[in-house]
Amino acid sequence: MVPSAVKKGRAGSVSQDWSKKVGAGVPVYYKPECWRKFSRFYDFLVGLFFLPFGGEKRYRARFVDFIAPRPGEQVLDVCCGTGTLTALVAGRLSGKGRVTGVDLSAAMITKAHGKVADLSATFKTADVESLPFAPDSFDKEYVSFGLHELPAGVRQAVLGEMYRTLKAGGGLFVFDFNLAKSPLPRLAIRTFVRTFEEADAYRMMLDGLRLQIEAAGFKVKEWRPVLGGMFQMIYAVKPAEKGDG
Ligand SMILES: C[S@@+](CC[C@H](N)C(=O)[O-])C[C@H]1O[C@@H](n2cnc3c(N)ncnc32)[C@H](O)[C@@H]1O
Repeated sequence: MVPSAVKKGRAGSVSQDWSKKVGAGVPVYYKPECWRKFSRFYDFLVGLFFLPFGGEKRYRARFVDFIAPRPGEQVLDVCCGTGTLTALVAGRLSGKGRVTGVDLSAAMITKAHGKVADLSATFKTADVESLPFAPDSFDKEYVSFGLHELPAGVRQAVLGEMYRTLKAGGGLFVFDFNLAKSPLPRLAIRTFVRTFEEADAYRMMLDGLRLQIEAAGFKVKEWRPVLGGMFQMIYAVKPAEKGDG
């Protein structure tokens, strides 16, 4: 779900080392200017994207139901963007507990602030590759259309950070692209991702996101195909004890 025109140039570079930082700690693959510009029309484009499938609200609500936030919980929204989900999750917390949205784009976070009047939500501008939180801080963590934005090695590191900051027994929830099995949805999502996203996003669909999640230490409990399998929702847990699950 992204500004490919401004992001091209990373395509085909899946095996590069993306660990380097430029400027003020910004990862070399990340395009701050692109996200700044994109923040203005991101919500409009996401709305347009989901329009033929019954509208964005429906899928956002479905993911929030999947996360099932409960009052009193500490929840982390990784790559929160303009905060659409952060606001919905804050609503479910009913003033008890907190959802924290993290994104590297100050412009996206500014948009997010505008959506949440609720004290149950806070935002941080930070690189999710090193989350600015202590180990075992959150009951639940989620990432929606954020993981496909990251080069494979960085994605693995981010999942590692989510593991570190999640409490033992806590839940990880992911919503992202998936390479559908049926021919028509497969063609549609393949064409979309290959046209508008980076090569890393397509590789993520080929290599299997579940494997990366398990490699970070999580146990995958549920995998749900969405919209004919063009998207996927994954629920995984951080085992309470080594060997649990
Ligand atoms: C496609 S948007 C998804 C936004 C939101 N989660 C949603 O569902 O609409 C991806 C977001 O990931 C953020 N992002 C990408 N790499 C990041 C990084 N290393 N650290 C923090 N945020 C990052 C971008 O700034 C952007 O806001």
